[in-house]
Amino acid sequence: MVCLGNICRSPLAEGILKHQLPIIRVDSAGTAGYHIGAAPDSRSIAVARINGIDISTLKARKFHIEDFDNFTHIFVMDRNNYQDVLAMARNENDRAKVALIDPQQREVPDPYYGGKEDFEYVFDMLNAACKNIVLTMNAN
Ligand code: 4NP
Repeated sequence: MVCLGNICRSPLAEGILKHQLPIIRVDSAGTAGYHIGAAPDSRSIAVARINGIDISTLKARKFHIEDFDNFTHIFVMDRNNYQDVLAMARNENDRAKVALIDPQQREVPDPYYGGKEDFEYVFDMLNAACKNIVLTMNAN
């Protein structure tokens, strides 16, 4: 799960997918390094907690090339993340792993400068997107 800062959207996506499908390995990262080592944004922690998911112990890290080797799927939140991750891809195999998380190819909006409602909107969007991932994985 990849976003820009790895403190708002992608930690939520990580927590939601782990919650829905505990047997798979899920991790998250940011394309930028501003918040390395930081816990998720308090508003992401809060909206997750209300929905029964604890993301408070996650720590931000930057996306790195080895993630292409360590993961089968790389889900990004928006088109900027998509471009930034694709720019690091070494070959077609790497590129093929990268996809927008929303099945309708909508961007998950950055809630960082928004309010509680924006984090609730992001949670709902990611919850639906993760359900779709689980369905797709069960079908394969
Ligand atoms: P995220 O949100 O990419 O969903 O973690 C952001 C967090 C921090 C910043 C931007 C987006 N920032 O510019 O510090």
